[in-house]
Amino acid sequence: MSYQAEYSKSIETPELFWGEKAQDLAWFKQPEKILSQDANGIHRWFADGEMNTSYLALDYHVENGLADNDAIIYDSPVTGTKRKITYRELRDDVAKFAGVLKAQGVEKGDRVVVYMPMVPEALVAMLAVARLGAIHSVVFGGFAPHELAVRIDDAEPKVIVSASCGIEISKVIEYKPMLDQAIEKSAHKPDACVILQRPQAEASMVDGRDIDWTEAMATAESAEPVPVKGTDPLYILYTSGTTGKPKGVVRDNGGHAVAMKYSMKSIYNVKPGDVFWAASDVGWVVGHSYIVYGPLLAGCTTIVYEGKPVRTPDAGAFWRVCEEYKAKVLFSAPTAFRAIKKEDPEGKLLENYDLSNLDTIFMAGERLDPPTYHWTMEVTGKPVIDHWWQTETGWAICGNMTGIETLEPKAGSATVPVTGFNVQILDPEGNELPAGEQGAIAIKLPMPPSCLPTVWGDFERFRTGYLTDFPGYYCSGDGGYKDEDGYVFIMGRTDDVINVAGHRLSTGEMEEIVAGHNAVAECAVIGVNDALKGQQPIGFVLLKDGIEISDEDLEAELVALVRKEIGAVACFKKAVVVDRLPKTRSGKILRKLMRQIADGQDYSVPSTIDDPTSLSVMEDVMGRIGLISK
Ligand code: COA
Ligand code: AMP
Repeated sequence: MSYQAEYSKSIETPELFWGEKAQDLAWFKQPEKILSQDANGIHRWFADGEMNTSYLALDYHVENGLADNDAIIYDSPVTGTKRKITYRELRDDVAKFAGVLKAQGVEKGDRVVVYMPMVPEALVAMLAVARLGAIHSVVFGGFAPHELAVRIDDAEPKVIVSASCGIEISKVIEYKPMLDQAIEKSAHKPDACVILQRPQAEASMVDGRDIDWTEAMATAESAEPVPVKGTDPLYILYTSGTTGKPKGVVRDNGGHAVAMKYSMKSIYNVKPGDVFWAASDVGWVVGHSYIVYGPLLAGCTTIVYEGKPVRTPDAGAFWRVCEEYKAKVLFSAPTAFRAIKKEDPEGKLLENYDLSNLDTIFMAGERLDPPTYHWTMEVTGKPVIDHWWQTETGWAICGNMTGIETLEPKAGSATVPVTGFNVQILDPEGNELPAGEQGAIAIKLPMPPSCLPTVWGDFERFRTGYLTDFPGYYCSGDGGYKDEDGYVFIMGRTDDVINVAGHRLSTGEMEEIVAGHNAVAECAVIGVNDALKGQQPIGFVLLKDGIEISDEDLEAELVALVRKEIGAVACFKKAVVVDRLPKTRSGKILRKLMRQIADGQDYSVPSTIDDPTSLSVMEDVMGRIGLISK
């Protein structure tokens, strides 16, 4: 079938289309209601189907001939460990860990927070939660206690699963003290914490609350998969919005499983037994979908890599892993390839490795800039595919569906809408724009399976944040255009969300933290272009009157504050004191204008500006700190 035929069918007859795709899964009870609406009027998929995601990802394969295939290959250059886990072994571990959680009272619908590094036990924990019909919420290990505490208060977990430490190249990051601080800060307290002790750091345990992973597993009774409805939540994954409070994106079991299984074939073109490597982290949506659920639902082998693209030990790390495990697909963020390019610009290290099993390299998480696209293709000789997606959808909205028909790629474009996504470019009034014109990227409802039905505990935030700007559409928060051939070009966020090294962060949240410093009267944090990480945040601060502090000391304090509150991953390294910020007459800071100045783009001065000279002040400041050449 051609892409166009498959796509048209998915848009014109979505129920028929997804009803057929749903038959690829071994439901306990096949859904009869394919598409319906919930009490909030939101489209839901497979509401009356019954299934269990963990069963489909594990037991089903064990029962159908893949028991001795590798489910996980764990490769950890930072600890010098390599380990293979078969589907049978993983199913048994997951069933036992589900027993550990069950013994702590975890039941269907309960939440379990997982705060872990890139070790197989992170996947075991997620799948065990899913096995019980409970809801996991994985928190990225690079987040600081404050961020973890906010998520604990929102998700209200019965149990938290964590580890004594993670390892960042050679630095041991102790997770347990951060977990203890987070629980101290949060109003909600979990009943129990299960801690994986790693040899690199020993966690001190809290009597009566903390349970040792290994000890608990030694005596646990295996738990069976609990049937859930298609619309019961599988997980909550918090992502940055425009304010300090992260949004808990809710993912259904049924739609997610159908979309994951379908995408493995249609987008990534893999089949059971293939080795699939998403070089990301389980803390991000890419990790959820394509380290854990996608590959396992499809019967593939997934690689859990605890390392970096560079410095573990060198810029040949990705090629080494691809060769060693015969990876068919490599998926990572453009920033990873920019990091490799920086250290090995001519791709010399590739000469040491045989990449003949690697079919395709996929990239997502941030815009794939044409130089990185061309470089990666040239040095590897492999097709490189950009695809655009969001935590909210859980899978690609635009891409090149290599399992259906590989279209001619265009540098700078995420190719075409993926089946089920009716992608439109809208003007501010909600009119669909013609080819070549830039606007807001929106998806006409209904969205296909896997997309969020709500924000955890806050439907109103979902409605106002995504559905009210353009009635009848989901507003993505990204801007861009389509060309004459229908190819979609994603040009960046239209809100205060930035992407730093493929990590989604909120400048609004950073502003709240910076503004909390007692010397700061007002501030603006903007994301500026960065050759390696895509974007970097920079703070511009106005001091309160009468404050005596040197610019250097203030910058150091603000950098430390953001690092403490959000975590090292925020990469907030620069704060500059200014005596004016460009504002409208009503007092709104003109952040977009500041971004345009910083990135050397043309800009027009809005008629609502309060003081036009503030722009030349801003240009001077940005020139002084080397952001722009004056
Ligand atoms: N736990 C604890 N700390 C973490 C962490 C984790 N899981 N992940 C990152 N950090 C820390 C880093 O150690 C670093 O700390 P430092 O300021 O003390 O050096 C800081 O957060 C910033 O990390 P990062 O932006 O990743 O920078 P880096 O220099 O360590 O690595 C890259 C740069 C490009 C190699 C790295 O970002 C990378 O591999 N990116 C791939 C993109 C990716 O996985 N995206 C996910 C979505 S697909
Ligand atoms: P996340 O929810 O962390 O996956 O981040 C989603 C955001 O990352 C999107 O809204 C985009 O701004 C950006 N993004 C992800 N993939 C791409 C891509 N292929 N091209 C451009 N931007 C992307």
